[in-house]
Amino acid sequence: MQPLTDRYVLTVALNAAVDVAYTVPGFAAGKINVAATVERVAGGKTNNVARVLSRLGVPVVATGFAGGAAGQFIAGDLRRRGVTPDYVEVAGESRTCFAISDPTTGTVTELREPGPELTSADVERFQAHFDRLLAGADLVVMSGSVPPGVEPGIYGELIERARPAQVRVLLDSGGAPLRAALNSRPFLVKPNQAELAEWAGSPLTTLAEVLAAARRMREAGPEWVMVSLGADGALLVGPDDSGGTGGPGGPGGGGGVGGAGGVGGAGGVGGLGGAWRAVPPKVRAVNPVGSGDSAVAGLAYGLMRGLPPEELVRLAVACGTANAMTSGVADVDPAEVQRLARGVRVERV
Ligand SMILES: Nc1ncnc2c1ncn2[C@@H]1O[C@H](COP(=O)(O)OP(=O)(O)OP(=O)(O)O)[C@@H](O)[C@H]1O
Ligand SMILES: [Mg+2]
Repeated sequence: MQPLTDRYVLTVALNAAVDVAYTVPGFAAGKINVAATVERVAGGKTNNVARVLSRLGVPVVATGFAGGAAGQFIAGDLRRRGVTPDYVEVAGESRTCFAISDPTTGTVTELREPGPELTSADVERFQAHFDRLLAGADLVVMSGSVPPGVEPGIYGELIERARPAQVRVLLDSGGAPLRAALNSRPFLVKPNQAELAEWAGSPLTTLAEVLAAARRMREAGPEWVMVSLGADGALLVGPDDSGGTGGPGGPGGGGGVGGAGGVGGAGGVGGLGGAWRAVPPKVRAVNPVGSGDSAVAGLAYGLMRGLPPEELVRLAVACGTANAMTSGVADVDPAEVQRLARGVRVERV
């Protein structure tokens, strides 16, 4: 896949982490355990998205808060993977999160640090930094949890800051941060089924229920909602009359290839909008961790190109599925994505 513009995707990791993955056959709590393998990577959900985008050939600037030796590792690891880190430095140490996989039982034990406590001065410094980075951005991706000391409304505030710069925001979060951000009208949100159900306050057992809840979420603010459904693929809900997904509807339509005119302002024709369902081919899933992040990277790539909705959801599902087929986290081979995309079935629902 080819780079599309000289503008970058700006990824925002408020709670960036060093992810350490150990393989420990026969892991036992309360005993001395020896790791058979260890992998260290700049983690947190948004850095996963940044890595996949970089593999797809998209220029990425990764920002957020980082501190201490862990913060330096995060910046160095991103750089090695072709991502440009531009973090706000904070006192204290960025998180390290441990995952211990035991291949004999198939269990994974996780240990997560809470991360440094941030101050309101840190948040103010970040807001000014974010405004500067918006100048070169085509799209912002924000995902993951909100760190200690930061209001859940932070994502909404950042979305409001991106609007005058005419930069679209793609948000992947759940719980209170998602709820608080909808009102600020992010361009696209990507809940999974559980996150959508939590927001809707009901379990959503059928596709019809998922579709109805996605439409309600869209009415609450975002232009597009993609609900990811694990091995069942995804459901995309958006404006009915969209020829493409490029541009926030501002002057020039935002610069997405094939998305001239954008879809901004057209939302909610007849109230319901359009809906597309994408189902991946049957594959052998090895490790689905990071599939949501890979799907988000596919969405960001597709939005930069201004792909029409059916191609956008196809690409997102192909990226998620490509990741599920490998043991790595946010490990996506572009050639495999293209192969899988041809096998994804997309229908209007
Ligand atoms: N077992 C699987 N087989 C095939 N594809 C999968 C599987 N799991 C996930 N995917 C693909 O990845 C996409 C995103 O997965 P999912 O809905 O599990 O996201 P998520 O719950 O947000 O994941 P994450 O843990 O990364 O946050 C799906 O839409 C699908 O295309
Ligand atoms: Mg997710």
